[in-house]
Amino acid sequence: MKVILYMATSINGLITKGQDDSDWVTETDWKEFDALIRDCGIMVMGRKTYEIFGDDFPCKGAINIVMTSNKKLLNQKTPSNVIFTNKTPKEVIVMAGNKGLKKLMLIGGMTLNTSFLKENLVNEIWLSIHPFLIGNGLRVMDKFDCFKRLKRIGIKELGEGLIQIRYRVNK
Ligand SMILES: NC(=O)c1ccc[n+]([C@@H]2O[C@H](COP(=O)([O-])OP(=O)(O)OC[C@H]3O[C@@H](n4cnc5c(N)ncnc54)[C@H](OP(=O)(O)O)[C@@H]3O)[C@@H](O)[C@H]2O)c1
Repeated sequence: MKVILYMATSINGLITKGQDDSDWVTETDWKEFDALIRDCGIMVMGRKTYEIFGDDFPCKGAINIVMTSNKKLLNQKTPSNVIFTNKTPKEVIVMAGNKGLKKLMLIGGMTLNTSFLKENLVNEIWLSIHPFLIGNGLRVMDKFDCFKRLKRIGIKELGEGLIQIRYRVNK
């Protein structure tokens, strides 16, 4: 199972303006995001991301996994393409593999990204870099002791001033 972390960022690596504003993410980026979702067929997100992007999730045509420890959410009835789970990141990857899929899209936010990165579970990082400087907000990952070498595997210039860079994480 290949885990692809996909994030829309400012040029200084922030994913929100303030605590939770991602309204600056462009239409161009949403189209790229949708294309990768269709390609992977499955994605995993943190509970806060699920709630904040409420209008956009669950995404049709893909399995939406939401990681949470919230008992009410874990016990609620969901559409067949939505799974709330308190499994560990490793167990979630196994679950995605058991569904016969080859690529799992990790779509944030910062807390969930950090859980996967800390355990060295991310194979590729795709950044959609937006032409903004944001002074205060959440980062791609939270602070922890880490220095990792990446290999650039692709770069694309998109509309609206975006650059999408894809990196492989050397394990
Ligand atoms: N720019 C972008 O591309 C982008 C993408 C995604 C999100 N975002 C932004 O990121 C913000 C949310 O990020 P965030 O860091 O605050 O929250 P988050 O990562 O979306 O969600 C955190 C929650 O997920 C659950 N969780 C996280 N790690 C877990 C683990 N290992 N096991 C089980 N559950 C786990 C916990 O839920 P419980 O508290 O329920 O246990 C935790 O409180 C939003 O504002 C959103 O707009 C931006």
